[in-house]
Amino acid sequence: MKNTPTFIDLFCGCGGFSLGLERAGFKGLAAIDFNPEAVQVFQANFRKIPHILEKDLTKFSPDDLAALIGTNRVDLIVGGPPCQGFSTARQVDGANHGARLMEDPRRHLYKEFLRHVEFFQPKVFVMENVLGIRSASGGQYFTNVQAEARKLGYRVHAQIEECVKLGVPQKRRRQLFIGTREDLPGYFYPKLKLPNRAIADATLWEAIGDLPLLKAGEGEESRDYDISRRVGKISSRAYQYLTQVLQVDKAAKLTAHRARPHSARDLGDFLKLKEGENSGEAIKRGVEFDFPYDKTTFKDRYTRQHRHRPCSTIVAHLAKDGLMFIHPTQNRTLTPREASRVQSFPDWFLFPIARTHQFRVIGNAVPPLVAEAVGTAVKCFLNQSMKHQKQIKFDLSPLPCSEKEAVRWLVPMLDLDSRALKEVPIKDFKKAWYSISFLFMGLHPDSALEHGKEVSYDNEDYSVVSKEEPRLINPRYVQSGWPVVLARIAKEAWRRYEKGFLVEEEFYCSDAQMAGACFRNPELLKVLSDNRQSVA
Ligand SMILES: C[S@@+](CC[C@H](N)C(=O)[O-])C[C@H]1O[C@@H](n2cnc3c(N)ncnc32)[C@H](O)[C@@H]1O
Repeated sequence: MKNTPTFIDLFCGCGGFSLGLERAGFKGLAAIDFNPEAVQVFQANFRKIPHILEKDLTKFSPDDLAALIGTNRVDLIVGGPPCQGFSTARQVDGANHGARLMEDPRRHLYKEFLRHVEFFQPKVFVMENVLGIRSASGGQYFTNVQAEARKLGYRVHAQIEECVKLGVPQKRRRQLFIGTREDLPGYFYPKLKLPNRAIADATLWEAIGDLPLLKAGEGEESRDYDISRRVGKISSRAYQYLTQVLQVDKAAKLTAHRARPHSARDLGDFLKLKEGENSGEAIKRGVEFDFPYDKTTFKDRYTRQHRHRPCSTIVAHLAKDGLMFIHPTQNRTLTPREASRVQSFPDWFLFPIARTHQFRVIGNAVPPLVAEAVGTAVKCFLNQSMKHQKQIKFDLSPLPCSEKEAVRWLVPMLDLDSRALKEVPIKDFKKAWYSISFLFMGLHPDSALEHGKEVSYDNEDYSVVSKEEPRLINPRYVQSGWPVVLARIAKEAWRRYEKGFLVEEEFYCSDAQMAGACFRNPELLKVLSDNRQSVA
């Protein structure tokens, strides 16, 4: 247990993120959310996390938290600052760029997250948000999160998580910001793997097909449920989802399988939909609906899900109505238990709160399978990073010996256009590419191409480098931190990597990064020179 990595979950909701991290082998020290229902659910399900706090993070400081948990060090901080301020649903009406939403205070909650990162200095942080953050206010928040985290000493990159690839039967896509403390060698990069317990390309039916039939308005909060009686009727894939992901055998009762009531008019409209169809598509084939809304604006108001496809993204809005989540074969909308199964919550996970709140906390959550994949990848990064630090071994060559040498290798490439860069012999190109990692410990190859437009000229002087080639210091892209002059080289490196001319260890060249760290740290430098001699 002593070596078990620790985490703190900020804006923890009902605990989707925490559940996945526990499954990946992390130990939670604290979880914080200001919503009483979310905290209630969290407390009902996490016995091992000692501090589950109902606190407003704009008022509760990291010092308060450190005093409470008895430490100011933690390996991982995760969190999902609320996303309503950025959701693309709001962009549809233009509000995402208008004055109203520009002022939405929820948009600044990422700063509370970063305040904790600054204080606790975790080795890694992972912040989750909706994709809308990429475009909100012309990309300003997307840039700010990364630029501000970099200033705190983190190597940051943004990656999109495709839940369906991680075994979640849902079209959900989310933005992850991953920061690794700059002094840790290695690159964290997008290799989230399908957790062992999961099945690839899971479908809605595999997640909910075994559940008892219900009519709208029917069901109980808790009932007996004998899964063994259903087993003969389900596929082997569904069986794996049920036993491994939903862990049905660990649930004493079936809970939260209670369908909402609907008006006779809605129920009549639901019946007009084919499986997998939305009302817009039905209107096109001549169906007439009775709903009284403008048929052009609200044409996609109803969706009947398809059994053999991933479900639409489960959203917190489910708390308001479930019209986009009509059951594939029954004339009603999904129950909270069905929504939670689509989110990959196990059946033993309890939601002892009112149904509306159940829908909200479930829709807000990071699917536990996704969190498990993230946790496993973080652990893998931490292990590799530690191995790198303990046993310095350089497989790549040639590596620069000094900053001066790195600059010398790099400079001839700076004025080449894309075509000329393509012609550079691989040996020389590698020397230049490794030099970048050697000089800039904090840059991440994954951010190199997604740098935005904004540039800054006020970057700190990096003595030898700036003297030798000032363009390597200023200007830099604010979003990615990359010197503007290196953008073309990064693009060419990506091209060569994708074509297989650079293998993974050469593209994500942590050896070169470590060599740079050694150069700047005299103690490590000794090890480096011993190694270099033995290589020679
Ligand atoms: C997107 S949800 C996070 C879900 C969570 N990561 C999970 O996996 O279940 C955002 C959460 O932030 C919480 N929240 C919003 N503002 C807050 C604040 N000022 N302090 C604490 N929590 C806040 C909301 O109550 C909500 O539960």
